[in-house]
Amino acid sequence: MDINIAKDKIFEKGFLDLEVDVHIDLFAEIERLKKEKNIVLLAHYYQEPDIQDVADYIGDSLGLAQKAAQTNADIIVFAGVHFMAETAKILNPSKKVLLPDLKAGCSLADSAPAPLFKVFKEKHPDHLVISYINCSAEIKALSDIICTSGNAEKIIESIPENQPIIFAPDKNLGAYLNKKTGRSMVLWNGACMVHEIFSLEKITKLKIRHPKSKFIAHPECEEALLAVADFIGSTTQLLKYSQENEALEFIVATETGILHKMQQASPNKTFIPAPPNNSCACNDCPHMKLNTLEKLYLCMMYEQPEIKMDENLRLAALKPMERMMEISKKAGLIV
Ligand code: 13P
Ligand code: SF4
Repeated sequence: MDINIAKDKIFEKGFLDLEVDVHIDLFAEIERLKKEKNIVLLAHYYQEPDIQDVADYIGDSLGLAQKAAQTNADIIVFAGVHFMAETAKILNPSKKVLLPDLKAGCSLADSAPAPLFKVFKEKHPDHLVISYINCSAEIKALSDIICTSGNAEKIIESIPENQPIIFAPDKNLGAYLNKKTGRSMVLWNGACMVHEIFSLEKITKLKIRHPKSKFIAHPECEEALLAVADFIGSTTQLLKYSQENEALEFIVATETGILHKMQQASPNKTFIPAPPNNSCACNDCPHMKLNTLEKLYLCMMYEQPEIKMDENLRLAALKPMERMMEISKKAGLIV
């Protein structure tokens, strides 16, 4: 099949709609394609275990953005969601950036449509806009600084105390940061569907059954949950804490994909996914989990679907990303 036919095949569905022969060793094929095409495969911790295991780098949003900015590869394949691949393109426009499924979106990014956010921003003309990286390129372009869960506190602390701030799009992360930094940032009313699903009641019961466990949570979780957490941090910070802390059991309130790396890093410890407030596995992110090993293989094979971006939009979105990188470097969070 040539690449033009492949392009037609992604038109409707957002991913290459082709049958993959079940006899193909996808792990070996992906490794071969990486070498042949000088591809770097970046994956977020929320990807399925097979994808994490073939990735060249797995990380949180800050680490992934840094890798995307620094790579010498010709092609960046992003096993994550759309805003992450878009961020890679913003930082590295000369590279071809591929996402296995273009429909891998993000409920949090979707909760901030750019036209509405523009109106909100105009109501607060004296405010500086700090946006969480989980947002579209259009929202980034309307922002002064971008942050991630790994550097948000340092970014806010770098701003003079008398400077009013709008924080978007995550109200839970924003409320957590207001508490931590003593600021009164104006919050956009967005949230992540995965991190709002946890049941405080079930977690409390689990804690009683596992009294020596540590309860660790991502700051996208709701305030009541964060109030009882032993540790709060980005995915990378949660992983590090689980490795370094002497506890043998951890109740983990974030997307379940991270448990794969935690278990690999600490095989003798037990990791319990924090239970959701219903009986389905809703703490799996439906967007992250749209990527599969088959789609990843096809995407690397046919170099589709590709992230494209208007250059003016890219340049406007780059500015606040560069400020984030600058502040993160000064704070020693990245090198
Ligand atoms: P981090 O991995 O940066 O903590 O982000 C979590 C997340 O929700 C990504 O979608
Ligand atoms: Fe978006 Fe939440 Fe999924 Fe992360 S876990 S990609 S914030 S919907």
